[in-house]
Amino acid sequence: MRQRFHIRSATPRDVNHFLTVENDAYPPLYLEEPEVFLTKVRVFPAGCKMIEDDQGVFGYLICHPWLENDIPPLNSLNFSLPQCPNVFFLHSLTLRRNHQKRGIGSLVCRFALSLGSELGYARFTLVSVQDSHDFWKRQGFSVVEPLPHNLRKKLLSYGNARFMIRTEPFKVNGDIR
Ligand SMILES: CC(C)(COP(=O)(O)OP(=O)(O)OC[C@H]1O[C@@H](n2cnc3c(N)ncnc32)[C@H](O)[C@@H]1OP(=O)(O)O)[C@@H](O)C(=O)NCCC(=O)NCCS
Repeated sequence: MRQRFHIRSATPRDVNHFLTVENDAYPPLYLEEPEVFLTKVRVFPAGCKMIEDDQGVFGYLICHPWLENDIPPLNSLNFSLPQCPNVFFLHSLTLRRNHQKRGIGSLVCRFALSLGSELGYARFTLVSVQDSHDFWKRQGFSVVEPLPHNLRKKLLSYGNARFMIRTEPFKVNGDIR
């Protein structure tokens, strides 16, 4: 089914959109503060996107360059890009509940992979929460296991979560960008 939605760059004015979407999609453990979203938009605007249709914003995507053997802490204001990043990290792909399970997440994931690929990244990482790992497996990610001790500790701020990696480069095909 052809999906009618649009992906656009986020701006600081979208902070309430981020909050509305995250409150709809996550339990309290995963809620990030407004300043955390604003920091991401300021530090790496190219990776902060709003997903909307003619009814308005219903999702967001946040992704940024990172280090393969590291996991950024959740809900932290202490965020800057590493000097020599070697992966593209999909921090969050989040849709409001009434827009889930309609194929939109898969399309937005392809958009994120294509974005990272255009920026020169062949490897992608993420932290899967809310038992979304089967969804991510369909997007070419696999769970990293066993997880080194330092990463196990870093994963703790994400509750019940899995660290996942995609090592297969993404082939851009102009479908969605
Ligand atoms: C996870 C999420 C981004 C997936 O996007 P989506 O649009 O719902 O997924 P799609 O419709 O593209 O799903 C593709 C397939 O994955 C499956 N799937 C979707 N979400 C899933 C989940 N949470 N767990 C397991 N499988 C899932 C779908 O059933 C579908 O399978 P099908 O093709 O056999 O029907 C979306 O559900 C979401 O925003 N969830 C809440 C926020 C969240 O947990 N984000 C992930 C953070 S790591």
